[in-house]
Amino acid sequence: MSPDTPSPTIDALFLEERRYPPSPEFGAQANAQPDIYERNFDEFWETEGRERLTWFEPFDKLYEWEPPYARWYLGGKLNVCFNCVDRHVEAGRGDKVAYFWEGEPVGERREITFADLQADVVRFAGALRRLGVQKGTPVGIYMGMVPELPVAMLACARLGAPHTVVFGGFSAEALSDRLNDMGCEVLITQDEGWRKGGKVPLKQNADAALEQSPGVRTMVVARRTGEEMPFEDGRDHPWDELVAEESDDPASCPCEPMDSEDLLYLLYTSGTTAKPKGIAHTTAGYLVGVAATHHYIFDVKPDSVYWCAADIGWVTGHSYIVYGPLCNGTTSVLYEGTPDFPDRDRWWDIVERYRADILYTAPTAIRAHMKWGSEHAEKHDLSSLRVLGSVGEPINPEAWMWYREHIGGGRTPIVDTWWQTETGMIMITPLPGITTTKPGSATQPFPGVDAVVLSDEGEEVGPGGGGYLVLRRPWPAMLRGIYNAHDRYVETYWSRFPGMYFTGDGAKVDGHRDFWLMGRVDDVMNVSGHRISTIEVESALVDHPSVAEAAVCGRADAATGQAIVAFVSLRGSAEGSLEMLDELREHVAQKIGKIARPANIVFAPELPKTRSGKIMRRLLRDVSEHRALGDTTTLADPTVVEELQDRAATAPSEEA
Ligand code: PRX
Repeated sequence: MSPDTPSPTIDALFLEERRYPPSPEFGAQANAQPDIYERNFDEFWETEGRERLTWFEPFDKLYEWEPPYARWYLGGKLNVCFNCVDRHVEAGRGDKVAYFWEGEPVGERREITFADLQADVVRFAGALRRLGVQKGTPVGIYMGMVPELPVAMLACARLGAPHTVVFGGFSAEALSDRLNDMGCEVLITQDEGWRKGGKVPLKQNADAALEQSPGVRTMVVARRTGEEMPFEDGRDHPWDELVAEESDDPASCPCEPMDSEDLLYLLYTSGTTAKPKGIAHTTAGYLVGVAATHHYIFDVKPDSVYWCAADIGWVTGHSYIVYGPLCNGTTSVLYEGTPDFPDRDRWWDIVERYRADILYTAPTAIRAHMKWGSEHAEKHDLSSLRVLGSVGEPINPEAWMWYREHIGGGRTPIVDTWWQTETGMIMITPLPGITTTKPGSATQPFPGVDAVVLSDEGEEVGPGGGGYLVLRRPWPAMLRGIYNAHDRYVETYWSRFPGMYFTGDGAKVDGHRDFWLMGRVDDVMNVSGHRISTIEVESALVDHPSVAEAAVCGRADAATGQAIVAFVSLRGSAEGSLEMLDELREHVAQKIGKIARPANIVFAPELPKTRSGKIMRRLLRDVSEHRALGDTTTLADPTVVEELQDRAATAPSEEA
């Protein structure tokens, strides 16, 4: 390319032409009808706000927008716990199941109705109040996927105490950083958690964290494994003893009336290296946003059994296991363990037992099931499933196809939902029954969402071009800032394109104005002046029948600027050989072009991922350039990278 030809912001190379129009039967019964896209923005969110929530005092203004801060449903008073729990009981739906809880050890199950949930929340909120928690007291929560986790979150919401949930797989250090940043006074944890048949020492980690977090004066410990452990006098309290003394009468611990804009929670997201950001979500806009999207996008019905298989420690769990579904009075499955414990059909056993009709999971899980083979799903009756969802990463078209065929029986719509911790709610997604889906595309902005793809110069990129994904109009569940970090908030999200929210993701739009997400812009590779997105090369690799999973990154190269290195994990019995290497390079060349052919391919059984299942490309770059590794604290399994370092040192390359 000559130096004066302007290079596209990101080259779009991958062409996917399969189309799946909705069935007329699904369309006829769907919660979302096509006119939803014609609704006036203000009218839509006003109606959702009025009709989907119960208010103690109605709001008098929909929103105020003073970039970079928005405020929604001004003047309203409400309580999130009341909306998620009490009002369903008052309406006579107390006997409806809120959660079918399935413990990791086989056979441990609990059925928790909305009335049970109310009793548990009222008692626990009473206990917290006795420990001094009141409106505004910051509370940390560090637990596994036990019913006490949503109970703790809802009890905080009942009292008006903002919480921060720290994922149970995080270390003591990560926990204390978050507790200190928020200034938490109380920490709620459990003795131990179950994971793959082993025990996770949550209380022990919490003890270590509190050595660095002197502001936390009280710890509440729920019993899970029942293991004996030291309790510090005056500081530590057993959950069961506390609640035994409390009344379950809702009037004994009423729901605190909160302002629409009062803080509901902080959720920390790690930037790549810097200190984690405390993303702030407030009360009314967040709840309206998650409840409305949950209703329309998953087509949830009164008798649905909905299963979001994420961890509550991530935003997906906050919005779509706890607050959205409970606000809508939905029955959910809550599963404690991993997909392959004790066997690789555990998930399908759960779907069959509860007759789940909606399943929401992540591409990383789908690829793991793909790698294990479809025979595990085939052992079970999955005919109850009506809608499948995906979130967290771009989904490779082949993984999408596998999900549709082997889990959805070739019949269910798939909603590939794009959003972020910061957006709070789903932003780009198909609507089942309306949208013609395409494997790998998140398709359309949710009604009222103004998403565009911009070039380096801030101009809208036309069909087929790749660029930066930006949101131009505020939305109810949007973040209200980074806790105690105004400047960082402005710099991270609002300075790249002034007045607009910069997502940090690359995307392209096709001729039908459907969106295709292309990964984080920091990961885009530059090969001989072509800016190539990681996901397109990965999808071309996963398209090969022997490949289960692939991650690519750029390494410095004297000739081309960057060269592409691919880390590939093969399906079943396939072997990583020199022939396979040539075959895969050729496959990529055919699928998307020679320019995108990996210079090196490292075959590896596992790829390095964060604890939420995202591939850590930054570490792959370190491995590829034979550098010391950067920060690995968010890595799920550190041995995976060590193995890769060994393999990369001996990997054959283009020149070899
Ligand atoms: O890069 C996008 C990717 O995940 C990022 C947000 O991560 P987090 O805040 O952890 O929230 C994950 C759950 C909402 C996004 O910036 N991402 C999420 N969903 C998709 C996605 N990339 C492509 N397609 C998606 N459906």
